[in-house]
Amino acid sequence: MMEILKALSTFVVLAIIFVHSVNSTDFNEVFQANWAPDHIVIQGDQTTLSLDSSTGCGFESKKKYLFGKAGAQLKLVQGDSVGTVTAFYMSSEGRNHDELDFEFLGNVSGEPYIVQTNLYINGTGNREQRHYLWFLVDDIPIREFANKEKKGIPYPKNQAMGIHGSLWNADDWATQGGRVKTNWSHAPFVVKFQSWEIDACELSPDEKDDPVVKCGKSGQFWWDKPVVKEVNKQRKQQLKWVRNNFLVYDYCQDVARFTDEGMPKECQS
Ligand SMILES: *[C@@H]1O[C@H](CO)[C@@H](O)[C@H](O)[C@H]1NC(C)=O
Ligand SMILES: *[C@@H]1O[C@H](CO)[C@@H](O)[C@H](O)[C@H]1NC(C)=O
Ligand SMILES: *[C@@H]1O[C@H](CO)[C@@H](O)[C@H](O)[C@H]1NC(C)=O
Repeated sequence: MMEILKALSTFVVLAIIFVHSVNSTDFNEVFQANWAPDHIVIQGDQTTLSLDSSTGCGFESKKKYLFGKAGAQLKLVQGDSVGTVTAFYMSSEGRNHDELDFEFLGNVSGEPYIVQTNLYINGTGNREQRHYLWFLVDDIPIREFANKEKKGIPYPKNQAMGIHGSLWNADDWATQGGRVKTNWSHAPFVVKFQSWEIDACELSPDEKDDPVVKCGKSGQFWWDKPVVKEVNKQRKQQLKWVRNNFLVYDYCQDVARFTDEGMPKECQS
């Protein structure tokens, strides 16, 4: 089981904000299946996704959010999970979308899962990091993407995002670089999501006000307080501990990958 903390951010003032806050929510109130609904089973607080050789499946929130926190407890595929990817992510729509990803890459029985995080800003991704997981993951930050817009580095703060979950086959790349393939004799592969926590600013697509103004800094929300403006000392130490002990890959260290276009700007500052 693990809890996932999503990115926070802060900006310019104003307006009355409607904050949508849910705990241990009723799945159907907040989410809808958007891919292979027949592979998704809802039982009380628990939502089970399954993957077989015919298809994976996925769901998304009915509403979109800007700034805040979205969390869930996940129980990943047990035993042999080679080739499978369980995704929990937030994404806006369109070609220039913003996206925050957690992708759990399966492995052979007894070998470690990897969590891959990625970030798309205005349609550009290629910001992967990979970590091994430890026993208690809850509430420990694994990644920070600071707002350095002043240095011309884009920041995902303008587009409201839906909250998504999915389970799919990605055996062309997911496990040990794609060398090990999904063993379909172990299907169906199942994952469970439960205990949702969404504390975020809800934004409707026809919102007329500036989204940053509507959901941004007003001093009214926890994500606008100075205390969350920066990762605090304790969290900085936790980040360092995670980096030192569990980091497998960081795009910012992958010089060979970016020889043509140069390292992404955020890696240089
Ligand atoms: C997003 O990308 C488009 C090109 O696809 C560009 O025209 C636009 O200026 C970019 N927006 C921001 C905020 O960087
Ligand atoms: C799977 O296990 C192998 C061997 O321990 C490891 O090298 C790899 O990073 C693990 N995770 C994935 C997703 O391949
Ligand atoms: C797939 O799983 C079955 C059942 O456990 C096993 O007999 C078979 O050897 C596995 N195939 C591969 C390629 O590992």
